[in-house]
Formats: sequence, C-alpha cells, structure tokens
Amino acid sequence: MTESITIIDNRTGNQLEIPISQGGVAASEWQKLLPGVWFYDPGLTATAACASSITIVDGENGILRYRGYPIEELAEHSTYLEVAYLLLNGELPTTDEYERWRHEITMHTFIHENVRKRFLEGFHYDAHPMGMLVSAVAALSTFYLDAKDIFDPESRAKQVTRLIAKMPTLAAAAHRFSVGMPFVYPDNSLDFCSNFLSMMWKVAEPRFEPDPVLARALDILFILHADHEQNCSTTAMRIVGSSHADPYSCCAAACAALYGPRHGGANEEVIRMLGEIGSLENVPAFVEEVKQGHGRLQGFGHRVYKNYDPRAKIIKKTADEVFTITGKNPLLDIALKLEEIALNDEYFTSRRLYPNVDFYSGLIYQAMGFPLEMFPVLFAIPRTVGWLAHWQELLDQDSKIARPRQLYVGAEPRQYVPMGQR
Ligand code: CMC
Repeated sequence: MTESITIIDNRTGNQLEIPISQGGVAASEWQKLLPGVWFYDPGLTATAACASSITIVDGENGILRYRGYPIEELAEHSTYLEVAYLLLNGELPTTDEYERWRHEITMHTFIHENVRKRFLEGFHYDAHPMGMLVSAVAALSTFYLDAKDIFDPESRAKQVTRLIAKMPTLAAAAHRFSVGMPFVYPDNSLDFCSNFLSMMWKVAEPRFEPDPVLARALDILFILHADHEQNCSTTAMRIVGSSHADPYSCCAAACAALYGPRHGGANEEVIRMLGEIGSLENVPAFVEEVKQGHGRLQGFGHRVYKNYDPRAKIIKKTADEVFTITGKNPLLDIALKLEEIALNDEYFTSRRLYPNVDFYSGLIYQAMGFPLEMFPVLFAIPRTVGWLAHWQELLDQDSKIARPRQLYVGAEPRQYVPMGQR
C-alpha cells in the first residue's frame, strides 16, 4: 500500500493497515478491526457519506468543477439548461439532445391550477415566498402520484423534468401572491430565465421582453448555483432520498435546509448587514464588532473553501455588467470596502475566511429589483437540478438508508416516579 494508516486496538493488541484513498479511509475497512466502534463527528466535518461523480470542490485551491468542467468555462460558454443536462447525465448534450431537453422543460412549465388556487392562495398575505415554495414543492407530490415509482426510469425522468421546469413558475407565483399581483402564466416562447423574469415582472403589456443582459446575468447566476456537492440542502435531499421518499418530498426537505441563514438565506443577510452598516465610515467599526464575537460577516467563510470562492469572482464580474443596465447598487461600495478590510485583517486571514457565493449575488438580485425575501428562492430554482442529480445518483447506487450513530449524553437508567411523589 502506498498511502495507508495502521490502527491498533489497545484492548487486544490487534492491528490493521488501511489504505488512504483520496485523503480518506473507508469505515467498512476499520470496522473489520473495530466492529461497532464509531466516530463522533458533529457537522459531519470528517465524514464522506457517499461516493459521487457529479461535482468536485477543491477548497484549498478555490476550484469548482461540474462533471470535470471548470465552473469558469461553463459560466462563460454554457447556459443553465445545458449545465442542468450535464449534471443529470454526466455529459454535455449534442444539438439534438439539447433541443429535446429544452423542449421537454419548456412543455412542463405550467402548474396545475389547484397548486396555485388551493395552496399558494391559501397562504397568509405576508407569507415568506421561501416558506411558500417549501410547502408548494411538497404539495406537488400529491398531484403526481406516479412520483412514487422511483425505480421506473420513465417516471423518474418525468419528475426530474417537472421539478426543474416548474420551480421558476412556483417561485414567481409565490412572489406575485406576496405582493398582491395576479399570477402570470409561463410564456413558452421565451428561454428559461427570460420566462422566469416575465412571470416575475409582467404587468399589463401583451408580452414581457426582459433585457438580454439581465437574462444572461441570471442564467450565469443559475449556472453558478446549480450544484455544490455535499452541502447542507443536498445532504438533506440524499438523507430523505435514502428512505425512498418521492422526489417532491425530498426536494421540499432540501428547500427547507436551504432556507436557513447559514445556507441559502445568507445572501439576504448580506444585504441586511450592508444596509445596517449604512456608510463607508462605519465599516471598520463593524469589522471590529465581528472580531469581538458580535455576529458574523455574512457572505464570508465556507466549510470547504479556504480560499476565494471561484463563484464569488465570477459574480463580482457579472455585477459590473448588470450595473451598466440597472445603475450601481449603492451598497456595492460598502461591500468592496468590507472585503478590502477583511482580506487584510489577521482575524479573517488566519481563519482563511474569504467572500463566498452569497457576498455579491444579493447585490445583483437587489439591483435587478428582486425583494430580499426572494433571494433564497432564487437559489432554490437552480439548485433543484443539483439536488436531483444527487438523488438519481443515490438511487442508482442503491445506498443504505441514512442512519447515523449518536454519542448518548443523557440520564443513567432510573425508575418512573408517580406524579404526586416528584
Ligand atoms: N464572520 C466572522 N467569523 C467567522 C465567519 C464569519 N462569516 N465564519 C467563520 N468565522 C470564524 C468562527 O467564529 C470561527 O472562529 P474561532 O475559531 O475563533 O471560533 C472560525 O471562523 C471557524 O468558523 P466555523 O463556524 O467553525 O466554520 P464552519 O465551517 O462551521 O462555518 C459557515 C461555515 C459558512 C457556516 C460560516 O463561515 C458562516 O457562518 N458564514 C456566514 C454565513 C454565510 O455566508 N453562509 C453562506 C455559506 S456559502 C453558501 C451556502 O453554503 O449556502
């Protein structure tokens, strides 16, 4: 063995040599020596729960690749729908394959009228659109009963198409409801992102024509958000998927995980933070507060990236293009100052905290007119394809149901005491 570790069970003196493969060791190997002995690993920081061939994140070097293709090349040359095909199928599509895929997605953009009337319109008037999305995605499972046939390839492909195609429709519907605007039906003559913008912003004009620069910027953002290997929401997808639940229920769980401010809610928090800072001269004091342990620099830091997040670099460039159309977001200067101070401060450099994908994306979304509440929703639309690619992979691997061990720290055995004697 070229790279290996040797473990010794000091209780018995037995020892075992285990190969190190790609920086890790297989639990199935060390259990040969230590059956029933487990690792205590909160946050799963040292646990690979699956083998995956979809996406690689090299956090030390700030590298992200989908199916081997660098994110920079995909963002420059590809489209979200093409990337979606790549993530799901492992290869870029030919012209014919792409045309069929695009047609299939376009033909599944409509939602059942009762999803809108019974579910979406049943929410309280000020419901958060992400909360509505989580519930609406779960509700879809009650409309497509064939979704339970998860090992039927035809049914599986149909649910994948439906989910990718309907997410923008559900997302826009949630927004329109929360601002009291009438629902806009999909315009299937438009491309994926233009159609979404039409459903978001159309008012009384016969046809909504989005600015092509903005539609392309959104497409790039969707490419960048399409997958990120075993993040919190994808892990939720895989865990629920491991019980063989239908893909809508799995996606609803993933959406719920994405809702939290440590994950997909972070871009919303970035804008709130920049707004609270308010002006350039307040930036140093704010950074000091964070260093004293009062809150965190939102949009900074990452479990895997210990270098500049490659997506943040692309987003920063995209922001400049968007601002030529929308005008500069006034919060940009505060963000740039914050980044400059943090990247030159020992607190952040020693902990290897760099801007992540959320640091600049919110500035673009805000300049494009999206309300803050829509930010996690804008993350959920493209991440759906990543969730589904992992779900397919999981089922193809026929993996075990997720069922981690625990370190029990509760009470010792004791006897029930009748209520009157406590
Ligand atoms: N601001 C200030 N200090 C930070 C930050 C931050 N944003 N992030 C981490 N730290 C400090 C933390 O206090 C700790 O310091 P110490 O060692 O002195 O206790 C050290 O850095 C390590 O932090 P951690 O919490 O152990 O790191 P983690 O890998 O568990 O957390 C994170 C990763 C993303 C949750 C965290 O960096 C964070 O809360 N960032 C702000 C929220 C954010 O931007 N989230 C978006 C993540 S990227 C997109 C996505 O996944 O959805």
